[in-house]
Amino acid sequence: MTDNRPIGLFDSGIGGLTVLREIWKAAPDESTIYFGDNSRAPYGTKSRSTVIRYSLQNLSFLESRDVKMIVVACNTASAYAYEELRKRAKVPVVEVVTPGADEACRATRNGRIGIIATKATVSTGVYKDAVERRAAELGMNNIEIFQQACPLFVSLAEEGWWDSEVTRLTAEEYLKPLKEAGIDTLVMACTHYPLLSKVIGEVMGEGVVLVNTGVATAKVVKHLLSEEGIASEHNEKPQREFFTSDEPELFEQVATPFLGEGLPSGTRHFSTDKYEVTI
Ligand code: DGL
Repeated sequence: MTDNRPIGLFDSGIGGLTVLREIWKAAPDESTIYFGDNSRAPYGTKSRSTVIRYSLQNLSFLESRDVKMIVVACNTASAYAYEELRKRAKVPVVEVVTPGADEACRATRNGRIGIIATKATVSTGVYKDAVERRAAELGMNNIEIFQQACPLFVSLAEEGWWDSEVTRLTAEEYLKPLKEAGIDTLVMACTHYPLLSKVIGEVMGEGVVLVNTGVATAKVVKHLLSEEGIASEHNEKPQREFFTSDEPELFEQVATPFLGEGLPSGTRHFSTDKYEVTI
C-alpha cells in the first residue's frame, strides 16, 4: 500500500527546516508541507497558552491540506502543546523531544548530558524528564543533566549569522557552564540550534557529541510511516511545499543557504491566526 499524501511540519520559523532536511534524507519519496510561523516567532519567549493556541491553529491549517502525519518541528511547541495536538489531531503526531532524549542517552559515555534550549523549553523541564525517563528504561543510573537556556541563538539563526564572530562570542558565554560541568553530550533541544552547529561544536570541542534532534526525529517518522502503513513508495515526484506567515521572499532568503540551491521555492504566505481554537 502506498499513501502519497504529504507529511505536514510546522515551526515558529526557519528552525524546523533542520528537521525537514533530515526527513527528506531519511524518506526521500515523501511529499512535505512546511509551515513557518515567522510573523509570530519566537515561540520560546511566549506563554504556554499562547504556544498551545498557535500550535492548534497550525494544526488546523496543515489538516486542511490533507496531510497524513504532523511533525511538530519545534521544541517549544513540542514541550508545551504536544498533548493537546495529539488529542485533537486526526492523524499521527510526532514531536521532537523524545527522539532527542533517546539519542542523548545512547551517545553519552560519562553520563553527563547538557541540554540547550529556549527559556520556555528549559522552564517546562520536559527535556530533563524525557532524558531521565529514557535513561531509566535503558538501565542507566549515572545520568547527570545540565540545562542552559540560550535565547539569543534563535535571533542569530534567524538573522543568518550561522558562522559569525558574534555567534562565537555568544556561544562561548552560554556554553561555559556546560564545559565546566564536563558534559560529553550536548542536546541541541531547539530546532534553530543545528543551524549554528559549526560554532557550537567548535566552542564545545571535539570530545563532545552534538545531538541534532532533527536526525533522531526523522528516524521516528520513518518508523511510524511504515508501522502505520502510510509510507509513500516509488513516488517519482515528491512535492515540497512551503508556507510562511511572514514575507515569502524573506523566508526564502534565510532558508536557501541551508536547504541548498533553489530551495525553498514558490513559498506562499498564509496566516493561521484566522482559525478559531478553544483551549
Ligand atoms: N523553534 C523553536 C524551538 O525549537 C525555537 C525558536 C522559537 O523560540 O520560536 O524551540
